[in-house]
Amino acid sequence: MRTLFLLLSVFATATAAGENQIVLKDGQGKNLVISQCAMCHSLDYITMHAKILDRAGWEKTVGKMINVMGAPIGDADKKVIIDYLARNYRK
Ligand code: HEC
Repeated sequence: MRTLFLLLSVFATATAAGENQIVLKDGQGKNLVISQCAMCHSLDYITMHAKILDRAGWEKTVGKMINVMGAPIGDADKKVIIDYLARNYRK
């Protein structure tokens, strides 16, 4: 029982450390993405999808975050976020 507990805490620590390692590329809009896109899930959702999304894909995805998931992002911010993602994280 004690061993299981130890294993679980090691795993939890490793997971937390992994999330902290996500560092987005520098560029206009970076801080907006960090503040607007990390409130519901980890930023690795962005880096993981960089290989499969192009600009149109990011427009669709950010639109889905706003319209379906309820992300509180205004039109002006939405444009800056899509520009940043399409510039730095596209296939
Ligand atoms: C209001 C909460 C919320 C916010 C804010 C949010 N997301 Fe999401 N996002 C979700 C949920 C819920 C999912 C689906 C998770 C799942 O299916 O496991 C998701 C999934 C994703 C995915 C996976 C692909 C997909 O289409 O499901 C990507 C990429 C993504 N989000 C990017 C972003 C970006 C970029 C932003 C900032 C513009 C953002 N998210 C902001 C809730 C949010």
